[in-house]
Amino acid sequence: MNWQATEMNPRARIIIALDFPTSEAALALVRRLSPHAGLFKIGLQLYTAAGREIVRAVRDLGGRIFLDLKLHDIPHTVGRAVESADSLGVEMLTIHLSGGRAMIEAAVRAANPEMLLLGVTVLTSIDPATLRETGVDAPMEEHVLRLARLGAESGIGGVVASPHEVAPLRRAYGSKIKIVTPGIRPRGAAADDQRRAMTPADALTAGADFLVIGRPITAAQNPRAALDQIVVDAV
Ligand code: C5P
Repeated sequence: MNWQATEMNPRARIIIALDFPTSEAALALVRRLSPHAGLFKIGLQLYTAAGREIVRAVRDLGGRIFLDLKLHDIPHTVGRAVESADSLGVEMLTIHLSGGRAMIEAAVRAANPEMLLLGVTVLTSIDPATLRETGVDAPMEEHVLRLARLGAESGIGGVVASPHEVAPLRRAYGSKIKIVTPGIRPRGAAADDQRRAMTPADALTAGADFLVIGRPITAAQNPRAALDQIVVDAV
């Protein structure tokens, strides 16, 4: 897979978050959107409910997979988990960069070179007080950039970051790492629980390679029309 996002059409840069409790609900959406979106993100909720079968089923419908398992364990275990994900034909996979250099390197070694291995820096649900509580006294942005550097030095392909961290990450790393960002809301869309959302166009202008979008598409009356409008607005 060629991950040069800037060479892709905007549609290929959109990742649909399949945040559903059952495979039936997820597959109903994939049937409607499969040829029209970039990738489908299967996260902990759906994977815990429907496991490897849902990954195979989405692939059978022509969907490409971003498996968002945010792996964080001892290096050996993470390496083997990456191999298992790889055997499913997953194209993007997440690990936590806070797992440290040896864990990241084990994941990188285990990953098929075609796979885009992504590192999570600091979850956006974590505020500075929560970070301090876990023993990290550095300011948030400094910590995010430190983890991103650790990832980049260890050979990670990209990071997942909030839209507001995209510009500093892009400044620090140029085109060396891919940046995937959730927290996207088209102009005028409901914010839901996203507090510091950005529009698709603004996130791409800030330097994001891929946008993770859930409810603005998955909860729309016509998900295909919502996706198409986002693509039009993004260019
Ligand atoms: O529905 P919505 O567009 O808010 O979905 C965004 C997706 O991105 C969800 O799967 C959510 O878990 C994920 N996500 C996020 N913010 C982060 C990391 C992941 O919204 N910081």
